[in-house]
Amino acid sequence: MAASLIRLHFHDCFVLGCDGSVLLKDTPWFTGEQTTRANNNSIRGMEIIDAAKQAVEAVCPGVVSCADILTLAARDSSEYVKGPTWTVKLGRRDSTTASLDLATADLPLASENLDDLIRKFYIKGLNAKELVVLSGAHTIGQARCVTFRDRIYNDTNIDPDFAIHRRRRCPSNNNEGNANLAPFDPVTPNTFDNKYYRDLMEKRGLLHSDQVLFNGGKTDDIVAGYRRDSSSFYADFAAAMVKMGDINPLTGSSGQIRKICSAIN
Ligand code: HEM
Repeated sequence: MAASLIRLHFHDCFVLGCDGSVLLKDTPWFTGEQTTRANNNSIRGMEIIDAAKQAVEAVCPGVVSCADILTLAARDSSEYVKGPTWTVKLGRRDSTTASLDLATADLPLASENLDDLIRKFYIKGLNAKELVVLSGAHTIGQARCVTFRDRIYNDTNIDPDFAIHRRRRCPSNNNEGNANLAPFDPVTPNTFDNKYYRDLMEKRGLLHSDQVLFNGGKTDDIVAGYRRDSSSFYADFAAAMVKMGDINPLTGSSGQIRKICSAIN
């Protein structure tokens, strides 16, 4: 669950800024971001944010936004899996809108190459080093077969034993096993550590978008650096999470403080 919340925060901030837009559920008269390819059947943990919001509203109504709760939850999740911690800036307000089109345009996909990933982070104010360090969140959590099938059957920059192992629960037939899960880090899937970078250097990245970070390109040295020195990984991850949490917040009288996180007031 820690993994889901860190990811949810990322998918919030990358679309319209950290404004809780990802949390808004579709209704017959409102289309949110939850059905875009990167989110559909994929993001989880919304009910945890709803529960936290309910508890906060009970003692202090109308003050703490869903966007802030999600940002705090991401920080606490990192602590929970023995990752770094940081001070969360507060005061974000919640959106009264969401954008399926921007979610589709701006969220990165597992099939993407390095230049596309760098560009998608760059337009959010994050550089290539921050792309590499934030991708280190893939030291925890899992991915569905449908997100890594092409990689384990078609990529050539993959450790053969790893590919064979992952194919066992992810058949080549497009209709089978799509939802089967594999851990990003098979050894310590619930602990934040820098094994992610070692795996990349051994061609054992799970997603295509993971392996492109170490594939003879300009981010190779950054990967090697974080593999060598986990304290720099921790420090840079914390700083990049703060920076991501600063993307385009709603403040002042913009937006609102939602009463429930899944719907506009
Ligand atoms: C660089 C571009 C990225 C791409 C293409 C990407 C893609 C993905 C995909 C396809 C999954 C599996 C989803 C599924 O099975 O449905 C995933 C999981 C995950 N991602 Fe990313 N991701 C990226 C960057 C990030 C960043 C920046 C963070 C957070 C800082 C993050 C945190 C996570 C976590 C924690 C999981 C595991 C979720 C769980 O187990 O519930 N990812 N990502």
